[in-house]
Amino acid sequence: MSDGLEGVVAARTVLSDVDGQAGHLIIRGYSLDDLAGRTRFEEVAHLLFDGFFDDMPADLTRALSEARAAVFVETAALDERLLALSPVEAMRALWARLADGDGLDTALKLLAAPAVFTPAVVRAQAGQSLVPPDPSLRHSADILRMLHGRPASEAEADALDAYLVTVSDHGLNASTFAARVVASTQAGLTSAVLAGISALKGPLHGGAPGPVIDMLDGIGRPENARAWLEAALDRGERLMGFGHRVYRVRDPRADVLKAAVRRMSEGSNVLPGRVAFAEAVEKAALEILRDRKPDRPLDINVEFYTALLLEALAFPPTTFTGVFAMGRTAGWIAHAREQLVGGRLIRPASQYIGPEPRQAA
Ligand code: ACO
Repeated sequence: MSDGLEGVVAARTVLSDVDGQAGHLIIRGYSLDDLAGRTRFEEVAHLLFDGFFDDMPADLTRALSEARAAVFVETAALDERLLALSPVEAMRALWARLADGDGLDTALKLLAAPAVFTPAVVRAQAGQSLVPPDPSLRHSADILRMLHGRPASEAEADALDAYLVTVSDHGLNASTFAARVVASTQAGLTSAVLAGISALKGPLHGGAPGPVIDMLDGIGRPENARAWLEAALDRGERLMGFGHRVYRVRDPRADVLKAAVRRMSEGSNVLPGRVAFAEAVEKAALEILRDRKPDRPLDINVEFYTALLLEALAFPPTTFTGVFAMGRTAGWIAHAREQLVGGRLIRPASQYIGPEPRQAA
């Protein structure tokens, strides 16, 4: 038995390939380096969905805009009890109001949901009025507008597109596996996506970038990095944004996101300094991890520069997991459809290590 199912192949997929030794990510036949920064999220969602729905239009932009408008009505359910939850929990509760189904209409509403609900929850929690979606905008620009209440610049929308494309799919990660298990029972796409978001929110998976900001804020200045990081490891903590189950070298998504942050920092007064600080922390962390864990290659993962990018786009850290879900939902849906179309019920075995059978009293 493999602890944590490490190395176990549990699905065959046409959707993405993670080469952990070489540090490459292929999304449906394209290298991530060719997709991120050059394609919009709508195009990558189309690439992932292609062949899994009967009635796919040639371009998803309009249909996704309409889906944003359609799901916005659910925000009327945001009451005091929901607003007392964390943004990702409140967003998940709104998501759960959508009916199950297996068609493209359900898929697009599910794809629109985190994009609409995350800004709505944040604004409502801050006592601000909600900004309804504008179907004339591309997905990334509309998300930023719904969050900030002002139009996004092209550079900001491009940076968010680069992020959403980068995290759209990533092999059989924990949340995608959870989504596939639920899809295999034929429960429907909404149920599969809710399994995905529930797995994603944990700090060992998609909940890490918020704590990356806490770490950077705790360190404060480059010269504090070594002492702060050593002390965290002495307390038995993990360094957020480092290590990966599959990558034994640098996570290729980290460099794509770092490049996107660099593009954004042109013309910014503060961002170049923040990037230089993050690079100093990264360098110190890699040196320390190399010294302390010489047998376990631990490198940077996607979450480190995610934190910097989303911070630069003025997403509050409490929303980072919700923003991750805006991208990964495309992958969850495609995997759920792939599982439904070609797979069997996922039902592995367990090995019993409990007491021998005995007489009940
Ligand atoms: N900081 C310090 N030590 C680490 C880290 C880290 N970030 N990651 C792994 N290690 C150490 C472990 O303590 C362990 O050491 P030990 O053998 O002496 O006990 C060894 O490396 C192996 O760790 P595992 O937990 O077996 O590795 P696994 O593959 O299960 O974990 C994971 C991968 C969860 C990502 C881990 O590296 C981690 O906790 N990282 C920090 C959280 C994080 O950045 N999460 C985002 C991941 S990316 C994503 O999911 C989108």
